[in-house]
Amino acid sequence: MIGSFEVKKNIYWVGTIDPAKKVFDLVIDSPYGTTYNSYLILDEKRVLIDTTEEKLAKEWLEKIENVIPAEEINYVVINHVEPDHSAGLKLLLEKNPNVTVIATPQAKILLKEVVNRDFNFMPAKDGMELKIGKRTLKFIQMPFWHWPETMMTYLVEDKILFPCDGFGSNYFEESFFYSKIQQKETYWREFWKYFRFVLAPFRKFIIQGLEKLKGLEIEMIAPSHGVIIDTREGIEKAFEVYEEFLKKPRNKIIIAYASAHGNVEKIAKAIHEEIGGELLDLAYASREEVLEKIDSAKAIFFGAPTLNGMTAPQTLEAMILLGLTPDWRGKRIALFGSYGWSGEGIPLLEEVAKKMRLKLYQPSFRVKFAPSEEEIEKAKKWARAFIETP
Ligand code: FEO
Repeated sequence: MIGSFEVKKNIYWVGTIDPAKKVFDLVIDSPYGTTYNSYLILDEKRVLIDTTEEKLAKEWLEKIENVIPAEEINYVVINHVEPDHSAGLKLLLEKNPNVTVIATPQAKILLKEVVNRDFNFMPAKDGMELKIGKRTLKFIQMPFWHWPETMMTYLVEDKILFPCDGFGSNYFEESFFYSKIQQKETYWREFWKYFRFVLAPFRKFIIQGLEKLKGLEIEMIAPSHGVIIDTREGIEKAFEVYEEFLKKPRNKIIIAYASAHGNVEKIAKAIHEEIGGELLDLAYASREEVLEKIDSAKAIFFGAPTLNGMTAPQTLEAMILLGLTPDWRGKRIALFGSYGWSGEGIPLLEEVAKKMRLKLYQPSFRVKFAPSEEEIEKAKKWARAFIETP
């Protein structure tokens, strides 16, 4: 167990580490586990920034109490209510019911459901400053980084940004600081993955937030997962990684399909022959490959057979993964497939598309068993009509 350590004079890391967390948020493989960073600022007022997840709350509180008694904490800032950063609040409130929680007004409503009790509360308005002695906290609302209630906290005099999930990674070394870690390449890969899966789907809001941060002089980024970035080069690179991905063009046509006996594949290839684009055989593509392709798409064909009265799990998963790509709501898709008897596969995917609020081209295209030559020609015309529909 790593004990508390000073990030800067009188600013302590009091976080927790979960090396066994090999799958994060169900979709990110995290071979190095993760950390829940929490920070304790000692000034005239004693301030905690973020907490920890429930199963590590006891260890977290012990770590705080190795520095000061929990009863002496005046404020706890909750930048984000997701339980990996807020669940520890419940234990802290048991120990210190007088502490004042600082969070966005939206966060207060959610926090009540996390701790199931009342607490002293100070709403953090956007741009609000709070003197805590020699230091000043500034609160910056960052809606949809990646929940609606999210904010960041900036420690004005020390030029430290506490962005919670922002600029986080599922990576750490005992040295914790970017200037000291050995495996920088691995760190940046995990940094990118965290961003890609957690924040990038909220592209528009992330761009707005990055603009907001440009007005700040930042000497250290102290996120609530993973490595603390403490060099100018590291901070610049962190911004670049985000900006580069967000500005990538998304203009391809992807034909993603799963085919049990080659019939769906025949339609996929006919579509490809007619309109070009990129084929993606979902039965053999990794999750990362699927994401990379659908990330780059302006329009997507999804193909699947009916399988035991259902559909191909690969096609269903690919559609759901679309929900982890930037600007996905309203994405243009068309569905095609083959069936033998009752043909539930495509209607099921149509329901998914409607629930996801995708822009579904109608009608979908399906054939019974193998497509005839005539049906292949129909599929080509259908695909062209989809592509030419604005
Ligand atoms: Fe690390 Fe959105 O919680």
